[in-house]
Amino acid sequence: MSARMPTEISKKPYYLTTPIYYVNARPHLGHTYTTIAADTLARYKRMRGFDARFLTGTDEHGQKIERSADKAGKTAQTFADEISAEFRSLWARMGLTNDDYIRTTEPRHKRGVQRLFMELQQRGYIYKGTYTGQYCVSDELYVDAPEGAPCPDCGRPTEKVSEENYYFKLSAFERPLLEHYEAHPEFIRPESRRNEVMAFVRGGLKDLSISRTSFNWGIPVPGDEKHVIYVWMDALANYITALGYGSDAPEDQARFARYWPADVQLLGKEISRFHCVYWPAFLMAAGLPLPRSFVVHGWLLFEQSKMSKSRGNIVRAETILDVLGADALRYFLLREIVFGQDGSFSFDALVQRYNSDLANGYGNLVSRTLAMIEKYFDGVVSFPGRSIHVSSISGIENAASDCIGSFNKLFEGLQFSAALEAVWAFMKTVDIYLNAEAPWKKLAQSNDLPMQNRVKQILDTAAESIRIITALVYPVIPDAAAKVWAQLGLGDITQADLKDLQWGGLKPGTKLGALGPVFPRAEKEAITRMQEKEEARLAESTAAATQAPGAPIAAAPGVVAAPVVAEAKTITIDDFAKVELRVAQIKVAERVAGADRLLRLEVDLGYEQRQIVAGIAEAYAPESLIGRKVVIVANLAPRKLRGLESNGMVVAASLGEKGRPVLAGFLEDIEVGARLK
Ligand code: MSP
Repeated sequence: MSARMPTEISKKPYYLTTPIYYVNARPHLGHTYTTIAADTLARYKRMRGFDARFLTGTDEHGQKIERSADKAGKTAQTFADEISAEFRSLWARMGLTNDDYIRTTEPRHKRGVQRLFMELQQRGYIYKGTYTGQYCVSDELYVDAPEGAPCPDCGRPTEKVSEENYYFKLSAFERPLLEHYEAHPEFIRPESRRNEVMAFVRGGLKDLSISRTSFNWGIPVPGDEKHVIYVWMDALANYITALGYGSDAPEDQARFARYWPADVQLLGKEISRFHCVYWPAFLMAAGLPLPRSFVVHGWLLFEQSKMSKSRGNIVRAETILDVLGADALRYFLLREIVFGQDGSFSFDALVQRYNSDLANGYGNLVSRTLAMIEKYFDGVVSFPGRSIHVSSISGIENAASDCIGSFNKLFEGLQFSAALEAVWAFMKTVDIYLNAEAPWKKLAQSNDLPMQNRVKQILDTAAESIRIITALVYPVIPDAAAKVWAQLGLGDITQADLKDLQWGGLKPGTKLGALGPVFPRAEKEAITRMQEKEEARLAESTAAATQAPGAPIAAAPGVVAAPVVAEAKTITIDDFAKVELRVAQIKVAERVAGADRLLRLEVDLGYEQRQIVAGIAEAYAPESLIGRKVVIVANLAPRKLRGLESNGMVVAASLGEKGRPVLAGFLEDIEVGARLK
């Protein structure tokens, strides 16, 4: 950001944020979705002349992270360092333009959070009390429910906590919050989310416990260090600590004054309560202005449910970057999913959109138009775009202006999909125009000067249309747009002034740059390649996750190796009792299409039959398994592999570097369903 500051100061500031991501899981497409949307918006705002500042980062404290680190046999700090670095390098690989990247373990953040806590204390909004009740570690949420009840948000078991805590007087903000929601209808978008939040607040707000004493991976309460500050208070404060809140340095204060309040805070719908209720209440209590708007988007679904680590149905952005590139992913997510609603990801749909809209649509229009200018006119544009006397051209010109108008309106309203649809509709108009005019046929008929001029006019009209289209799509597909801009002979798109985009900007005499393909067509194998990459990644991460000290070694998905751990951390008998190992008999075994390592098994447990997908196909022929008795982990959460639900894992030893599975079994005959303990 400092590099841009001197020239940007005259521009209007615009501050936008993504949630900061938990470091308990490596980045997946769900995180990428929000971050891409933010990047696109930031680029768009910059293109419109704003000094847009875009923040993202990682949320690294709390019990959930502490436990994940513990499971991985690492210190919380090392664990957080590794995963935070993965997020950061993924964003860099994708060329995202975030101006800052905040980590909640940084000193600047700690200082700001402690300052916020003290501010609330001084203003009389914090008191001490005792919390006895349920807590959901996965959501880091205090749950108002009886002991033993599951979390109402995620359904996981809650834990009973009884602790002396600091409390925040959230109840005092019930009225002020409702008044603010009423007075600022744009504060929470879309409307449906606003209604949900308002209904929640109208239901009554209880004071909120904002410290914990039973673990210490967090920011200490100033002056009472056995307490750590509640992880959501810690995390939400990132939006201001990253700007310099809590620092007395003049440059930090100036940055905070310039960019706060945020213009847009983007988030997924599952965390709207924290952002739209707790966060504004903390800010009001601290006497700070509230963000102008929260934009709450829906979920990216994969295989019918929310893509998330705990469901095991994630896809990694790297897989798509390797095969189709970042622009393809950006375009797909913003075009395919109506922002605000849930939407599904699939490799088929991705490749289909890539081919139809990018390769055959945009890429093809660019390559055939520019190739003709190159071939017939030495790559020089010769007609001024404005040619009102030719009605077909003025038709295109009007369509372009309409397209610019609707695109801007829709984009400002974060309706990315509809905005892109408007551009592709214009592209279609240009395509129809080119096909109807068929300049290549005209030149074949006659090569006299009037005909040449006519053809130049047609091609230059198409080239000018491409210029408009390229400027509009630049925030969404920046790499391709930059290439096309250079091919049009317009130089570096990042230096172009696109603020007042209008027809007629392609000047006569412009010499095209070097031409080359922009979006080569994707073959059908692209789908298989991506699926295989994900399979390999899944197998790798299953092995890595289970090879941590104390954990069994698993060779492949759906197979867990019998514990062969030398330097294991000890576990209690109660820990072991949580794993329900049972004897099961294989009734059906068959290969899974397109997955070399997987078998689909149906096993009989005596009291039920169930399906397990196991990565043992390279070691066992399916027919050799029928009737065989194996050991399975019967109480494992279901997960999907290649679209098939797997309900359990088969236990096997894992041999050699490749982890060849050898199934566990018994010498005695044993009845199905028997429990191992
Ligand atoms: N650390 C908290 C947020 C603190 S912000 C002060 C958190 N982290 S998270 O890692 O779980 O990330 C949640 C956010 O990631 C969602 O709100 C959303 O922006 C994005 N997504 C993660 N999975 C997603 C989908 N499957 N679909 C869409 N967005 C998803 O909550």
